[in-house]
Amino acid sequence: MSKYLIAGNWKMNTNLDEAKSITDRLHSYLDYDSEVELLICPPFTHLSFLSELIDLSRISLGAQNVHSEKNGAYTGEISIDMLLSVGCEYVIIGHSERRSIFGEDDKFINKKVVNSLNAGLRVILCIGETLEQREKGETFEILENQLEKGLIGVEKIINLKIAYEPVWAIGTGKTANKEQISETHEFISKFLIKRFGENNIKILYGGSMNAENAEEILSIKNVNGGLIGGASLKPDSFLSIYNTAIKLC
Ligand code: PGA
Repeated sequence: MSKYLIAGNWKMNTNLDEAKSITDRLHSYLDYDSEVELLICPPFTHLSFLSELIDLSRISLGAQNVHSEKNGAYTGEISIDMLLSVGCEYVIIGHSERRSIFGEDDKFINKKVVNSLNAGLRVILCIGETLEQREKGETFEILENQLEKGLIGVEKIINLKIAYEPVWAIGTGKTANKEQISETHEFISKFLIKRFGENNIKILYGGSMNAENAEEILSIKNVNGGLIGGASLKPDSFLSIYNTAIKLC
C-alpha cells in the first residue's frame, strides 16, 4: 500500500484541451514512486477521454461525485456503473461544496458511500467544520457526527479514505495550522480505530494546500496525503507536492 495519496480535485475547471495539457505535463514530469499515489479528479465530461490518455498504473483517475442509485429517472446525474465503465477508480463523496451548495445531507452521502464501496470504487469521504462551528467549539462534534452518519453500514474499509477539509480553509488561502491539523487527524484516527478495530484508512488533509506548505502539512502525524483543489490545476505545483511526499517517505 502506498504511503501517501496526493489527490487533485479539479472542481468545475478546465475544458478538454486544458485537461489534456495538464495531464500531458503530469505524465512527462512524473517521477513515478510506488510509495506515493497520484490521483486526478477532473470533471465528468473528461473521464472517458483521460482514462484512454493516461497510464492508469501511474496516475489514478477519480470523479468528483456520483449518484447513489443504480440507474433511472435522475436527470443530470451520473451512476457508479457509468464511472466504472470509463475506467474511473475513485470517487470523492460529501465534499463541502456538495453539502453546502447542493444541499447533500449525511443520509444521501452515506448511501453513495455504501453503494460505491460495494461496487468496488475507492471512496474519499470528505468531512469538515465551518468557521462558525469551529468558533463555537463544535469541531469534534461535527466531525464525529459526519463520520458516524457517513459510515453507517460500512464494513469493508479497504477502499475507504477520509479527507478532513475545514470548510473555512477551502479555496481561501487560509490553511489550518499545525496544531489544528494534528488534533483533528488524531481525533479522526481514534474514531476509525474505535469504529473498525484498526486504522489502515488514509486520512487526507484538504484546504489551500500548495507547494509551499505541503512539507509542513504532510509531515504531521496521521496525515496520509492531500486533497488539493486550486494547486492541482497548476501541474508544476501539483508535482511539487507529489515530490515533497516522495521526499518524506
Ligand atoms: P483548495 O480546495 O485546495 O482549492 O482549497 C480543496 C478542496 O476543496 O478539495
